[in-house]
Amino acid sequence: MTTPQAYIDRQLQRFQAELFDFLRIPSVSARSEHDADTRRAADWLAGRLRAVGLQAEIVETARHPVVLAQWRGAGRDAPTVLVYGHYDVQPPDPLELWTSPPFEPTVRDGRVFARGAADDKGQVYLHVAALEAYLANGGRLPVNIVLVAEGEEEIGSPNLVPFVERYRERLACNCVVISDTGMFAPDLPTIVRALRGLAYLEIQVEGPRGDLHSGTYGGAVVNPATALARIIAAMHDENWHIAVPGFYGDVRDWDENERAVIRALPFTESEFRAQVGSSALDGEAGYSTLERLWTRPTCEVNGLLSGYTGEGAKTVLPARAMAKVSFRLVPDQDPARVGQLVREYVNRIAPKGVRVTITELHGGRPWRAAAEGPYLQAAARALERTFGRPPVYTGEGGSIPIVGEFERILGAPVVLLGFALPGANMHAPDEWFALESFEKGMRTIAYLYEELAG
Ligand code: BES
Ligand code: ZN
Repeated sequence: MTTPQAYIDRQLQRFQAELFDFLRIPSVSARSEHDADTRRAADWLAGRLRAVGLQAEIVETARHPVVLAQWRGAGRDAPTVLVYGHYDVQPPDPLELWTSPPFEPTVRDGRVFARGAADDKGQVYLHVAALEAYLANGGRLPVNIVLVAEGEEEIGSPNLVPFVERYRERLACNCVVISDTGMFAPDLPTIVRALRGLAYLEIQVEGPRGDLHSGTYGGAVVNPATALARIIAAMHDENWHIAVPGFYGDVRDWDENERAVIRALPFTESEFRAQVGSSALDGEAGYSTLERLWTRPTCEVNGLLSGYTGEGAKTVLPARAMAKVSFRLVPDQDPARVGQLVREYVNRIAPKGVRVTITELHGGRPWRAAAEGPYLQAAARALERTFGRPPVYTGEGGSIPIVGEFERILGAPVVLLGFALPGANMHAPDEWFALESFEKGMRTIAYLYEELAG
């Protein structure tokens, strides 16, 4: 019998080739023209899971299906691990900024470049590889596995809570393991213990019946673009504190020990600034950059649309303006409550002469891990075996909406064990995943199963 680690040594090339096949499928969940591709990705993944020896099925939802697979050969006394990931990806545009096409995986400098390489196909597939490393040649896993891969994470997981509720008994588990986050630095294995939530709104501002001549009418008719700019500007005060009344009411502060853990991380402000390419960093007064990213809520404009934006000048007073605005949330903020507070505030401050409509696009709850537990410790040991050093504990500014719901509905703790490296360009052109991370990820997950059973 070969060990799982020896199996990984020998099959690495094939695992990579299979990942590239997965990456070639443009499973862009947000775009209906890719619905068939998204389904193809689900079918492909289910097919691979069956080949590996799991029982796998496609569960329909109102939109993109869930891949549900299981292997229960470890017996009733062994722990059950739920592995979650997503097979959908963000839209690849702007296409012209990709060095190689987003759905033609290309290796440069030991990295595979493709949409979804890091977020999340590479990280889903390393789990499949780790499972195969145990199950090949009639082998066994030391734990039972339930695997859930959804196709709607990048659009806010609108159909996953009903799925988890409906399949609650099938999904019963001792812990949930997710690889959909990153490492704090190359060679620094990382366990993420906090995620922000999200409340995503669209704000429509309507003024006159149609576009107007800005000279004939400007000055007497309220301009919707200016009105929207005022509304957006009123979201923050001069200290980048969010000005929506009641917004901070449910925000739980991190205690001094937790802040000390953040301060101890090797982080250089100037490197971070250089990496994003901004001339200066700024944010809510009284907090460090990492605290702003991980422990504090935000309000961001994600998109703005109004008036004339083509070549040259056009003197127009636009009839309407639109903004996409999202709030990242921290425990214990609730997306619906925040949406309501913002709605009341905007209605109160909206200039007269325009009609403002707010639509809630999606939301997700923030999450923080409970203090130490045996599953977190097992993950830490698995990381140490692969990387030769214990993990650092971090937070993450992004969101994985289902994480808090898994804990709430299934009553099992979630461990976030991700392998993307900083600068992986998730959601941006030239997304990449290091082939070394792919390998180390599968080794870590293979060790994790031993550690969980032991
Ligand atoms: N994998 C990301 C979450 C993430 C982002 C982890 C950055 C680590 C670093 C996930 O797929 C994602 O992008 N989530 C969305 C959720 C939203 C669409 C509800 C996000 O955070 O914007
Ligand atoms: Zn993701």
